[in-house]
Amino acid sequence: MAANQRSRYVQVKRLGIEDCELGLEAIRTVKKPTAHSTFGSGHLRKFLARSQNILIVAQQAGVPTGFLLAYVLDRIDRDQTMVCLYEIGVSESFRRQGIGQAMIEALKLICKKENVMKTWVITNRSNLAAFRLYQGTGAAADPSGDEVTFVYRPLN
Ligand SMILES: CC(C)(COP(=O)(O)OP(=O)(O)OC[C@H]1O[C@@H](n2cnc3c(N)ncnc32)[C@H](O)[C@@H]1OP(=O)(O)O)[C@@H](O)C(=O)NCCC(=O)NCCS
Repeated sequence: MAANQRSRYVQVKRLGIEDCELGLEAIRTVKKPTAHSTFGSGHLRKFLARSQNILIVAQQAGVPTGFLLAYVLDRIDRDQTMVCLYEIGVSESFRRQGIGQAMIEALKLICKKENVMKTWVITNRSNLAAFRLYQGTGAAADPSGDEVTFVYRPLN
């Protein structure tokens, strides 16, 4: 069965502050935060209160099975925004059931409604699941393969 047919059984929603507990459960289940994460309901409530932060959660029969995290950024050259899809994850035992695709389609709908200029996501060519997921949901990679990502970490 194709991913888009399977995803009919997935419930996907963008969380608001009132969904704080569901957000915590989803991230704890899917991501398994490290001991270093400063992660609790106070922090998540503050996060969800900011309209530029997007947290989408997928559930199957009430069980959170995936989440997607994205940020809305203002453009300087026009009255439009762009979106960075920062993270997406699906619990291992629920993968390949259309959940990733359903969450991305939900993000695309939000972006369309908000007249977002473009959305980007960084991944590795070696991450075949992510690579195919993004390709299959309509994103295009730099055809020259020339783009590279540099990351600054805080200085010690
Ligand atoms: C990437 C990830 C979110 C995909 O979620 P998912 O729910 O399993 O993806 P879907 O079932 O919606 O798959 C949609 C399509 O993506 C592609 N795809 C997904 N997993 C794949 C895999 N393991 N191998 C090849 N293609 C894959 C397929 O084209 C699939 O459609 P199909 O099943 O009809 O062939 C999931 O594998 C994951 O959580 N990985 C670990 C975290 C991660 O790497 N996140 C991305 C960081 S950039």
